[in-house]
Amino acid sequence: MKEEVILSSHGGDIYTEGMLKGRELIDYSSNINPFGIPDCFKEKISEALEASMRYPDYKYRRLKDAIREYHNCYDRMNIDEEMILLGNGASEVLDLAISSLKSILIVVPSFIEYEELSSKWGLNIEFSQLDENMNYDYKNILDKLRDTEGLILGNPNNPSGNLIDYEKFKVILDYCESHNKRIIADEAFVEFAPKDSSLLALVNNYKCLFIVRAITKFFGTPGIRFGYGISSNEEWIRNMKKKQNPWNVNCFGEHAAIYSFKDKHYIEKSRVWIREEIPYFLDGLRKLSFIDRVYDTNTNFVLIKLKDMNGQQLYDKCLKKGFVIRRAHNFRGLDDCFVRFAIKNRINNERFLNILKNVKT
Ligand SMILES: Cc1ncc(COP(=O)(O)O)c(C=O)c1O
Repeated sequence: MKEEVILSSHGGDIYTEGMLKGRELIDYSSNINPFGIPDCFKEKISEALEASMRYPDYKYRRLKDAIREYHNCYDRMNIDEEMILLGNGASEVLDLAISSLKSILIVVPSFIEYEELSSKWGLNIEFSQLDENMNYDYKNILDKLRDTEGLILGNPNNPSGNLIDYEKFKVILDYCESHNKRIIADEAFVEFAPKDSSLLALVNNYKCLFIVRAITKFFGTPGIRFGYGISSNEEWIRNMKKKQNPWNVNCFGEHAAIYSFKDKHYIEKSRVWIREEIPYFLDGLRKLSFIDRVYDTNTNFVLIKLKDMNGQQLYDKCLKKGFVIRRAHNFRGLDDCFVRFAIKNRINNERFLNILKNVKT
């Protein structure tokens, strides 16, 4: 029963109508880098296999060094080991961060786990709605923050693809820092966004800030389950660590991260691909008559508002042609007029646009 709930409320369910029925589907519902597993990790897979015969280093020193080196190289950031929390995917990190609060402001529509985890831990929940262009309403966030201990928001946000505007967000950061509030910024998709979109450079100045990252999306490894969090509030990190099981990251997660972070070629080609593919795909979508609005995006998915058809109808039509899309009706603040598409490689995007062109309303 629980499994049904999980599968139906997230993207990536290529099992129910696909694999379990012996049918291959193209997944436009979950947002994973189409380049797949980075070569640098693939080449070292036997090292991970060897390592499976022993317990991982319980301090994960090599892994933490790799994270520090990665952010030093790409964000020009110096991160101490004590600032890092390791998790089984971004999900475990989000779970721990949310569990450390008593009340939370969730900006919606957003990743539905924020609300589910907050309910699971019994937090008082407030919501701030994105504006009509699916951007953050900074004034509303600041007003509502007065009643909650923490704030969670995506950078970029899922399903809307919008980024935090640092100039407008600064007042919120300053307020949280001076009032002992906490900000959880989920950057699971940030590597797909333009350079310098991350808030990471601010963690050393703001103890209120906790950044969540993962290799899941950008390094194409959702099955590996590796994510991490970074904050200069070492006491907050220590308290979250106390709730974790030892060896929570297995040797495949450890090796996947160590070698993927070193794969400069993969990182560069992925960045080039997404900057080219966003305008191509969005232009194609904007020509379709049954689409009311294509929201601007900074990442590898796009939110769509439909007209003359609802999400269920489009889902069924796409499924018949072998494509799975994400209906967005269960994101708080959206309804079945909204769907979300992943952005894939050119060949699949072309095929998908052709399917959409022939959709009859
Ligand atoms: C915004 C966002 N954050 C976090 C996650 C969870 O990531 P992980 O698979 O690394 O647990 C997802 C998964 O869809 C997501 O969309």
